[in-house]
Amino acid sequence: MEDKIAQLRQMIADSDNIVFFGGAGVSTESGIPDFRSVDGLYNQKWKYPPETILSHSFFERDPEEYYRFHREKLVVDGVKPNRAHLRLAQLEQEGKLKAVITQNIDGLHQAAGSKNVLELHGSILRAYCSRCRRPYPAEEMNKGQGVPRCACGGVIRPDIVLYEEPLDNDIVRSAIAYIRNADILIIGGTSLNVYPAAGLINYYRGKKLVLINLSETPYDSYADLIIHEKIGEVFSRV
Ligand code: APR
Repeated sequence: MEDKIAQLRQMIADSDNIVFFGGAGVSTESGIPDFRSVDGLYNQKWKYPPETILSHSFFERDPEEYYRFHREKLVVDGVKPNRAHLRLAQLEQEGKLKAVITQNIDGLHQAAGSKNVLELHGSILRAYCSRCRRPYPAEEMNKGQGVPRCACGGVIRPDIVLYEEPLDNDIVRSAIAYIRNADILIIGGTSLNVYPAAGLINYYRGKKLVLINLSETPYDSYADLIIHEKIGEVFSRV
């Protein structure tokens, strides 16, 4: 592990065009479960599979059950950015990291001080009315009881990308541009199982693809440097 860390440290020292692409594994050290690890959300027993609950059609059909899952599982009290979030924010401040592209919806990169964060799957820190699209503070949605409703009668929903919903075109276009032009692409804490997000990394054209993930991913063979260790630990040492 030591020589890989030294190699990554040198790569980072020599670059001023790094892009980070991350997933739920970046936030597990802050206490937020990921989705597909053995103790992840998708392996816990629910009335319906969580991937079903987190879908557009389920949200429309049973907002009551959606919000039960949302408040119990997506909203984790008192979470703070961990060493990975903080180091990434520092690398941006040092002018070395150009963008954080994340599949996470927890806002922890911004809480750590990152400015240029592309949220491919949105954020539970923002809410809006699903009928008239009026924006709402997320507090009531995340902490209230029952189904939050707009003055127009519509159901208030989180500003996240549910299954069956498209990603924001502008965010995807911007993410592709950053990845295409990156000197180093560091991918961390993601199983690279979910498309179109996972497919974006195919736009990387460089020879410094770094993968930091506890478990194997379908992209391991494409990486120029693989570190199967905890991402907070790794980033605290580069
Ligand atoms: N350090 C490094 N890797 C970690 C850590 C850690 N501390 N904790 C977990 N991991 C790894 C796991 O081994 C796993 O491979 O992070 C990965 C997380 O993968 P998933 O749980 O599949 O999460 P993610 O890849 O972000 O899922 C993508 O799926 O359901 C959708 O919208 C949801 O954004 C999510 C998307």
